[in-house]
Amino acid sequence: MSIGKTLQDQIVLVTGASSGIGKGVAVAMAQAGAKVIINYLSDQKGADQAVQSIKENLGSAIAIQADVSSEDQVREMMQAACKEFGTIDILVNNAGIQQDSGFLDMSLAGWQKVIDVNLTGSFLCAREAAREFCRRGVVRDRSRAAAKMLFISSVHDTIPWAGHANYAASKGGLLMLMKSLAQELAPHKVRVNSISPGAVKTNINRDTWESPEAEEKILNLIPYNRVAEPDDIAPVAVWLASDEADYITGATIYVDGGMLLYPGFGTGGEVCR
Ligand code: BGC
Repeated sequence: MSIGKTLQDQIVLVTGASSGIGKGVAVAMAQAGAKVIINYLSDQKGADQAVQSIKENLGSAIAIQADVSSEDQVREMMQAACKEFGTIDILVNNAGIQQDSGFLDMSLAGWQKVIDVNLTGSFLCAREAAREFCRRGVVRDRSRAAAKMLFISSVHDTIPWAGHANYAASKGGLLMLMKSLAQELAPHKVRVNSISPGAVKTNINRDTWESPEAEEKILNLIPYNRVAEPDDIAPVAVWLASDEADYITGATIYVDGGMLLYPGFGTGGEVCR
């Protein structure tokens, strides 16, 4: 992957960046010239490794531990980030979890946890970042926009998902959070967009791709016939955050190998006849 220096000297905070898509995005943004804050919850080793490899090869990075669903911890994380780098220019709301359960057996705790991390966590980080973005405004030699915010959502902001109602509801909520923020923050020159991945090889869905049998099964849902890697998502995030995408706000880019194309109809819907 070759990435130009389109984010030179911009400061980016990526939540949930100790592994998977978040880590991929953080490293790619560092390749594009950004200074990076790696947020993590519990995987300090993964966060430290990401920081180390950025510092050795690419530029500045620090790790900050914080639970995105805690208002106090998010506030403290933003303060620590601004203390280290002066401000932030880009927020990538990536932290997310799954706690799967059939609906009849779904506990309130299992519902609440997923909503707390995926939706409320994104709200809390977005609000703290937006306050800083609006306070600071445009810095012309860094970007045409005052700031950029990305949500790493999911095809399940659109595709219903039996057995995962909490997760799908959280991602559906993110879609309208993103659009409402895009509308409200555009006059402040803050661009807000989402990337909605399909199946990507990360820890969250290890059981669906680790064995060849499982991978074979999920490929039935992916017309492009391969499961994605974090590196399929990362360059899209870099581009969306860069001035090359300066006129894009309120949009979702589905990076899903065609998962959203109703693959069951790929043979003319014959399954149903
Ligand atoms: C989920 C994965 C799933 C993919 C496609 C993602 O948002 O986290 O577990 O494989 O959507 O269904």
